[in-house]
Parts: sequence; C-alpha cells; structure tokens
Amino acid sequence: MEERTIVSKNERQTKKIAKNISKLIEENTVICLRGDLGAGKTTFTKYLLSYLGVKGIVSSPTFTIVKQYSVKSGIISHMDLYRLTNEEELVELGFEEMLAVSFLTIIEWPDIAIELIKNKTIDITINFNDDHNRVFNIKEKN
Ligand SMILES: Nc1ncnc2c1ncn2[C@@H]1O[C@H](COP(=O)(O)OP(=O)(O)OP(=O)(O)O)[C@@H](O)[C@H]1O
Ligand SMILES: [Mg+2]
Repeated sequence: MEERTIVSKNERQTKKIAKNISKLIEENTVICLRGDLGAGKTTFTKYLLSYLGVKGIVSSPTFTIVKQYSVKSGIISHMDLYRLTNEEELVELGFEEMLAVSFLTIIEWPDIAIELIKNKTIDITINFNDDHNRVFNIKEKN
C-alpha cells in the first residue's frame, strides 16, 4: 500500500492533485473521499471528472445519492452517502451492481460502504492544517 500527503493551498492545486490521481485509475476503481463538510470532496471530484472526459457541470449528489456520467472509458458513478444510515439501504439501491458496471465509482462519506468494496481503492482524506490549507492524504489499495 502506497501512501502520500499533499498540501493544497487553493483550487488550482486541488486541480493538479486531481490530474495526478486521474492517471492511477483503472477499470472498476473506487475512490473513497473522506473529510468534514466543506472539506472539498465535491470540488476535487469536479476536477477529476473533467480530466476523465466529463463535459459540463458536476454537481453534488447529496440529495440524489448518485449521479452517473458516461465517458469514453465507461460509466462514472459519483455517490454521496451522507444521507444513508446503513449498508442494507445501500444494497437495496443496487450498490454492488453499480460498482460492477462502473469504470470508476467515487464515494463521498464512504463509511457504510466499506465492507462491500472489493475493488482497487484509492482512499483520499482531506483535512485542514494550522494554516487553513487542505491536506490530502492518499492511500492506494489493490
Ligand atoms: N482547494 C480549495 N481551495 C479553496 N476553496 C476550496 C477548495 N476546495 C473546495 N473549496 C471550496 O470549499 C467549499 C466546499 O467544497 P465542497 O462542496 O467540494 O466540499 P465537500 O467536501 O464536498 O462538502 P460536503 O461534505 O458538504 O459534500 C466550496 O465553496 C469550494 O469552492
Ligand atoms: Mg460534497
């Protein structure tokens, strides 16, 4: 397992991190995004999806749970599980099928999904440091 830490002082630097992460993605990869409300999970996702060929606006799936995009490589599913409370709800939504058919699945607030994920996973946690900059902690698991 590889681990790295990168500081982002602004959206431009978050965009650069997203570009680097975009190169690590393979078929059926899952990206778990952790961090408090407003940490910048959706912002990171927006830049990542632009590098993966999504045209147009990427908005938060907080109310819809999932938003899907179709690109050359396949389907990208962007999920926000903040409003779900347990794994059963997730299974009923067809979570496992969604992982299986998606080229990439990005999950904000992934805690309830962890046991169901057997895929290559890139785990990203965004925290604030003392200078109020965002710190990205990135772990890869195959
Ligand atoms: N690297 C950054 N530099 C400056 N501002 C940022 C950065 N990343 C995100 N922001 C700003 O922080 C705010 C919240 O970002 P975002 O919606 O991406 O957070 P989130 O982690 O997805 O929150 P939630 O848990 O509510 O889904 C937005 O206004 C966004 O523009
Ligand atoms: Mg969000």
